[in-house]
Amino acid sequence: MLPDPDPDPDLDLDLDRQPIVRARDVEHAYPVAAGPAVPVLRGVSLDVRPGEMLAVVGPSGSGKSTLLACLSGLETPLRGSVVLDGVDLRTLSPQRAARHRRGRVGFVFQAYNLLPALTARENVALPARLARRPADRRTVDAALDDVGLLAVAERRPEAMSGGQQQRVAIARALVVRPRVLFADEPTGALDTVAGSDVLDLLRRAAGGDRSVVMVTHDLAAAARADRAIVLRDGTVHAELDRPDAAALFAAVERAAAAA
Ligand SMILES: Nc1ncnc2c1ncn2[C@@H]1O[C@H](COP(=O)(O)OP(=O)(O)O)[C@@H](O)[C@H]1O
Ligand SMILES: [Mg+2]
Repeated sequence: MLPDPDPDPDLDLDLDRQPIVRARDVEHAYPVAAGPAVPVLRGVSLDVRPGEMLAVVGPSGSGKSTLLACLSGLETPLRGSVVLDGVDLRTLSPQRAARHRRGRVGFVFQAYNLLPALTARENVALPARLARRPADRRTVDAALDDVGLLAVAERRPEAMSGGQQQRVAIARALVVRPRVLFADEPTGALDTVAGSDVLDLLRRAAGGDRSVVMVTHDLAAAARADRAIVLRDGTVHAELDRPDAAALFAAVERAAAAA
């Protein structure tokens, strides 16, 4: 494959500010039992800029979760390239790719995905331990404190509300200081108040050296991002800078009408 022509004239002047993720012509499909695989991503190109909060919106089934998986290296796209922090993931073995992701990428999922047998503190400490870069107690507690949950550090998930569990999941993702945090419907299972706390934390997590990429169907949530893309049927249907909820609503309506 030919080297990617550089469309960004500033890039060479400011190498530190190159996109944290650069996706080009990403195509993906899942195998189906019978017949040809159904395309899910059909040529997505985008940059995640350093420090930005990028929202991904679009109808259910438009490929949002698949896009996150491809951008983060959890899935290997069928075609196209994903460059994460300067490294083309296609050039790495699965083990090297996993190592490259560690410490650069964090995840927050709709279902929190905490380990039920572990306390909040143990859940937050786990990824750093798995990465063989154990975080000391003070670092773990600072992460819990940042999300307002130091007081419940000894509780297990079953003794916490959904909002608290999601805040633990955010602390767990941030404790390794990732360059980019991917959140897939992080408020999808929460009531408005708990969801708003989670959004505040994600908003605060973006900036400086860290970007946040958030999939959401909540257009008011997406309006808090610096930029939003509207996905439709596996392609980027629109991109909005400094989106407000009304502009997002109109863009999503247009995407639906184009179906
Ligand atoms: N692991 C999978 N195996 C097979 N098909 C999948 C898988 N994940 C998603 N799909 C299909 O891919 C399409 C896009 O899914 P997804 O990326 O989850 O969309 P969204 O997050 O926008 O709802 C859907 O048609 C879905 O059924
Ligand atoms: Mg999804």
